[in-house]
Amino acid sequence: MNDQIQMTDFSSDFWHWFIIIPTVAGIIWCALLAWQNSKGPKTTTEETMGHVWDEDLQEYNNPLPRWWLNMFYLTIIFGVVYLVLYPGLGKFKGVLDWTQRGQYNQEIDLADARYAPLYDKYASMTFEELADNADAMKTAARLFSTNCALCHGSDARGARGFPNLTDDDWLYGNDQAAIIQTLVNGRNGVMPGWEQVLGEDGSWAVAEYILSWSRDPINPDLLEKGKQHYDQLCAACHGADGKGNQALGAPNLTDDIWLYGGSHKAVVKTLIEGRNGVMPAQKELLSEQQIHLLGAYVTSLNKTAKQ
Ligand code: HEC
Ligand code: HEC
Repeated sequence: MNDQIQMTDFSSDFWHWFIIIPTVAGIIWCALLAWQNSKGPKTTTEETMGHVWDEDLQEYNNPLPRWWLNMFYLTIIFGVVYLVLYPGLGKFKGVLDWTQRGQYNQEIDLADARYAPLYDKYASMTFEELADNADAMKTAARLFSTNCALCHGSDARGARGFPNLTDDDWLYGNDQAAIIQTLVNGRNGVMPGWEQVLGEDGSWAVAEYILSWSRDPINPDLLEKGKQHYDQLCAACHGADGKGNQALGAPNLTDDIWLYGGSHKAVVKTLIEGRNGVMPAQKELLSEQQIHLLGAYVTSLNKTAKQ
């Protein structure tokens, strides 16, 4: 595996010694203290330290119990052995050369080796075959919750700015090639801001016009003006009929499904500020086979949602 997890680099020697000196001094101090206390009378005596609390509570001057001292020595030895074997003393890596990153990568490699035959089998199946395979979909659901749910939600229904993957509205299309392309290389929807061109009034007029495709207009007087702006500025990307363009990721504006909210206010905000949705590329994060399986999962979500 590559070096995915970077560890803190103690770049200056100051921090190196800042850790080593107090740690080693602390261990030596503890050892001396224990040794000091193990000397003296081996048997219990009646002699007291001369302290009295609560009128009659006194402290005898007796040696520490042997078992307790031995435990103390054992912890000191454990600490020393640990610091020799594992990283802990400043930049010293420990003689075992163990790292968190190494262990993580080892576990990932193990998992990869274990699941590789399974993924290979899935990779040779079509999306339809995979969607009908309960085991495959279970594995895919797990992959989805680790890698995708953060943004698209654990039920894949999305949130503002993150598309719902269970409905029939697709920014970039849902055929196999489009989904794979979305996952492998990511997507970046670029909706320019129109504040300079339309201003506040123009934006309300265009919002009124595009919203009239899915609901009754609030202010019909604005429609004519809105249509003019739309035909001139927006039709190139969203289409003259407002049905969008999947090659650009320009959403269908007529279906009343809104990535960024469908109130007049939300649409005006979209128009004035623009929007820039980013679906991160997965090719560095997931294997080709995992992406194939997830692609099948995404298309299957749509079918299950309709049942
Ligand atoms: C960091 C957040 C984030 C993560 C993680 C993420 N996505 Fe996305 N995804 C987005 C955004 C944002 C978009 C919309 C991009 C746009 O607006 O152009 C998107 C778009 C998509 C689309 C296109 C939807 C359409 O309508 O065409 C699919 C399919 C998709 N994601 C699937 C996935 C899968 C599967 C995963 C897990 C491997 C995943 N995403 C992980 C944020 C994310
Ligand atoms: C260069 C192409 C382009 C032009 C021109 C353009 N848009 Fe967009 N528009 C997009 C893209 C791409 C998105 C999706 C942004 C994203 O995924 O983050 C979008 C998103 C939107 C949204 C958000 C839809 C939702 O579901 O929330 C609205 C509303 C919108 N555009 C309206 C307009 C209007 C009105 C105009 C003309 C004033 C316009 N657009 C001009 C490409 C364009």
